Amino acid sequence: MNYTRNWTKKVRQNFGPLKDRLPRPLRLLEIGVWEGRSALWMLDNLGPAEYIGIDPWDIAFLDQKKFPPTEEGRAKGRAIEELARANLAPLANARLIKGSSQIVLVDPQYADIFRPESFGFVYIDGMHTYAAVMADACNVWPLVQVGGVVVWDDCITRCNKEGRNIIQKAADNFMLGKPHEVLFRGAQFGVMKQ
Ligand SMILES: C[S@@+](CC[C@H](N)C(=O)[O-])C[C@H]1O[C@@H](n2cnc3c(N)ncnc32)[C@H](O)[C@@H]1O
Repeated sequence: MNYTRNWTKKVRQNFGPLKDRLPRPLRLLEIGVWEGRSALWMLDNLGPAEYIGIDPWDIAFLDQKKFPPTEEGRAKGRAIEELARANLAPLANARLIKGSSQIVLVDPQYADIFRPESFGFVYIDGMHTYAAVMADACNVWPLVQVGGVVVWDDCITRCNKEGRNIIQKAADNFMLGKPHEVLFRGAQFGVMKQ
């Protein structure tokens, strides 16, 4: 496997203890794949029957300082997608969908994949604006089985244009009035649907 970044510490700490509580057979959805490191960890350690990962792999969605709109920046962006595809290629139960989750999840061409109440675990680690987090939450919640888990990453953040901890705020607002158990709350926010 080849990687450039390691964001799996929180994944290992928070997801590992959930393994025996997840619905089986387990369908797993990840929004924001990058080069597939968290995907590989989940595939190795949570035992899903199926993994679906969504990512646009487009520098327009990445930090412009690190991925400028130049030939070099675009090549760096393409390399991330190639790593993800190479890392996940050996796994027959892993499928990658290239696109923005706000579009892919409501695109009728994928209706067979995104069936109501068919996922036991959803990891939301894609676009980090309030509106995108809210749209992802609205689109994935109906896809999650009762007893299934949704996790948001990067819930504690410094102040950006939208304020502090914007993902946590969006997730909290989304969860108002929905029956759920809070599994963990901190850098990641995890809930089980009830
Ligand atoms: C922090 S990285 C994901 C890291 C990965 N989950 C891991 O832990 O190894 C964020 C990813 O979200 C993707 N992303 C950005 N906007 C997105 C969107 N609208 N839909 C889906 N993914 C998006 C980026 O392309 C990037 O690969």
